[in-house]
This record gives sequence, structure tokens and C-alpha cells, in this order.
Amino acid sequence: MRKLLNKLLIKFGLLLTKAPALFSDKTLETSDLFPAELTERVKIGAAIETPDNELFRIFSADTNVWKWHHYFDIYTRYFERFRDRPITMLEIGVFRGGSLRMWKQYFHPDSTIVGIDIDQSCQAYEIANENVFVRIGSQTDPAFLANVSGEFGPFDIILDDGGHKTHQQIISFGALFREALKDGGCYMVEDVHTNYWIKHVDSPETFVDLSKQMVDMLHEPYCNRKETEFRHEHPDALKEMELSYLSANLDGIAFHDSIVVFDKKRRSLPKNELR
Ligand SMILES: C[S@@+](CC[C@H](N)C(=O)[O-])C[C@H]1O[C@@H](n2cnc3c(N)ncnc32)[C@H](O)[C@@H]1O
Repeated sequence: MRKLLNKLLIKFGLLLTKAPALFSDKTLETSDLFPAELTERVKIGAAIETPDNELFRIFSADTNVWKWHHYFDIYTRYFERFRDRPITMLEIGVFRGGSLRMWKQYFHPDSTIVGIDIDQSCQAYEIANENVFVRIGSQTDPAFLANVSGEFGPFDIILDDGGHKTHQQIISFGALFREALKDGGCYMVEDVHTNYWIKHVDSPETFVDLSKQMVDMLHEPYCNRKETEFRHEHPDALKEMELSYLSANLDGIAFHDSIVVFDKKRRSLPKNELR
């Protein structure tokens, strides 16, 4: 009953529950199955070098863009493949407009970069004659997101750098992944370290919790099945299977420090063969 109520509240953007006790506790819990060598406390030091990539150089040459340095290697790793053609990108969170200019410079010059923000003053960062657009509204308003997607989408890349509250990340992903992201596209949520900061946790499960569940959903085809059902030319081999939309369209999930990445691709039945 509580789960159903929470689902409804999340759907309508009304969820404002108290953070679960887990998130007031800064000590991470780890399984006893980890060998002691892997959980032993070791020191890490301050970063000595800045990222060595083109995007970081673009970032460094401009102002009014707010990014963590270690994101640049991650952006490069997942976004590089989109650079050889005009793409459409949606960034949630405009702030002072610097990141929209940065993306415009990084991607193909004919690309369209769309930023959304709840703050009216961000409208000033639109550069319509360069295909940089800003729309004002909330990332927790599915109707607004559907309008933006209808006007500019579907997108090749969606980057959530908005309010960083857990219910915001959850609602935006829920509203955008299916209709607003292209097959072959990439959905990235940054600053998910906020999921470990009590003042940002305003949903019964965090976005990171849901992302971990999506790791299981990636393996949904194998649940209650046997290997021969996936074997090439075996009499038991399945011809088709019914899966959740998410499972059927997730190519992969990657967890990095503060960033979760979802690559979208329509899947077909997995198949194995011993040659
Ligand atoms: C971290 S800043 C964005 C930084 C920008 N992307 C950059 O890299 O420079 C977060 C932005 O999210 C916006 N924001 C907060 N809540 C929002 C919401 N519910 N919907 C849309 N934007 C929101 C804030 O107004 C703020 O401008």
C-alpha cells in the first residue's frame, strides 16, 4: 500500500518524505564476503593533474560553467562517439549558460543544444541563431518535459545536471527515457553523490537505488530460464520473449564516481554457441 502511494506521489511530483535513516549514516555497509585486503583503509591524495582532453580545454577557456574535473574523462568516454554528426542534446540545468556553450563547441557545429531550467533568468542564455535553446520549466513536470521533447526531441544525449534531489532525478528519467531518448542514445545523470547527502534525499528509494535495480533488469531475460533456451539452433531455443520496456531497451549501465550512464539500444534475444 505504502509502495503504491509513493509511486503515485512520485508520478505527480509530490513526494516529500523524510530521508530514510540509512542516509544519515555516513558509514557505508559492505558485505563480509569482501576479503579484508579489499576493504582495508588506504589513503588517496589530491589530484595532481587536470584532465587531458579537448572538452576540458573548452571548459577551461570559458566561464560560468560548473563541473567537477573528474567528469571530463567520463564525458569524453561516452560522448566522443556522437561528435562526427549533428546531434540533439538536452541538458537539465542551465545555471549561467556556460555548459550549453561548452557542448555547442564540443559537438558537431550543426548540433542542437537544448537546456531546461526552472529559473526564468536562464532564458537569457539562449542563442537561437546558433541552435542553442532554453526552455523554462521543472524537470519534475512530465507535461513540460513532453513539450520540450515534442519541440526538439528525440534526443541523442540527455544529461541531468538539474536540482540533484533524488525525486527529481527519478521523475526526469521516468519521463524522458522512453519517448525522449533515441535508440542508440545516451542518458547520463551527474552529481549522484547527492544521493548520499541527507538534504537531497527526498524519495523512499534514491536514484542510485533504482539504478542498481536496473542492473538486475538488464539480466531479466535470464530470470527463471535455462541456458539451452539461449543456445544457437537448440530445440529449446526461444524465438521471442516479453520483457519490461526498460530491460528491452537497455544496452548497458555504467557507474562512475558521481555519474550513472545508461546506453539505450533495442535488444534482441541473447544467444550462445560453443564452436
Ligand atoms: C548545477 S546547476 C547547472 C549547472 C550547469 N549545467 C553547468 O554545468 O554550469 C543546477 C541548475 O538546476 C536548476 N534546477 C533546480 N531545480 C530544477 C528543476 N526542478 N527543474 C529544472 N531545473 C532545476 C537550477 O536553477 C540550476 O540552474
